[in-house]
Amino acid sequence: MKSTIHRKVVMAKKGLLITFEGGEGCGKSTQIVQLRDVLTKAGQDVVVLREPGGTVISEQIREVVLSSKNIGIAFTTEVLLFQAARAQIYREIVLPSLEAGKVVLMDRSRDSSVVYQGKVRGFGVELIEQLNNLSTKDTFPDLTILLDVPVEIGLSRRSKTGKMDRLDMEAQDFHQKVRDAYLALAKANDRKRWLVIDATLSIEAVAEAVTKAVLKHIK
Ligand code: TYD
Repeated sequence: MKSTIHRKVVMAKKGLLITFEGGEGCGKSTQIVQLRDVLTKAGQDVVVLREPGGTVISEQIREVVLSSKNIGIAFTTEVLLFQAARAQIYREIVLPSLEAGKVVLMDRSRDSSVVYQGKVRGFGVELIEQLNNLSTKDTFPDLTILLDVPVEIGLSRRSKTGKMDRLDMEAQDFHQKVRDAYLALAKANDRKRWLVIDATLSIEAVAEAVTKAVLKHIK
């Protein structure tokens, strides 16, 4: 009896999962760092992660799936590698952190697979969501922030940094499909967790919109 009550208390202390999504050059990593600082100053225990990656094993998988050397990778292999990296990071870090009541900020998660593999590569949303549920143990973000930017602007920002990975080099048409797929997901707003922010605005203006939305979830 006592242990049941204890379990309820622990579960009620669940943390918050916030994911950032968007196409190339939308500024996710800059915004995540800014949000981490704001939340840390506000006394929150914050964990920042990226997908694919975030654990030793997941970073190794990242190397394989994103390396420009691996142009021969089959789409199916790609699908499963993103999921393998996800399964590891959820078990090792995301789920324990949420159980401990932390705020987890993720640079991409399940919706990246829905968009890139499910919609754009054509594997289908249903299959990808089944795999996502397996990888995340049925975990959905409390809030998903889509940083939306027109393709030309995103790609020109990215090429300035000089870091183009295998997927960055895909044709512009691919990136347009990615943007459209994200906007459609946000419009459907399943689970009422999506927020679209115009990422052509200044870094400060985007950060303000992000902070405002996140604080609503915390208070
Ligand atoms: P990354 O270098 O992290 O870039 P970005 O700043 O765009 O997030 O590259 C991650 C790439 O992997 C990006 O092109 C999107 C892609 N991706 C998928 O296709 N499926 C996925 O499930 C995830 C997590 C990422």
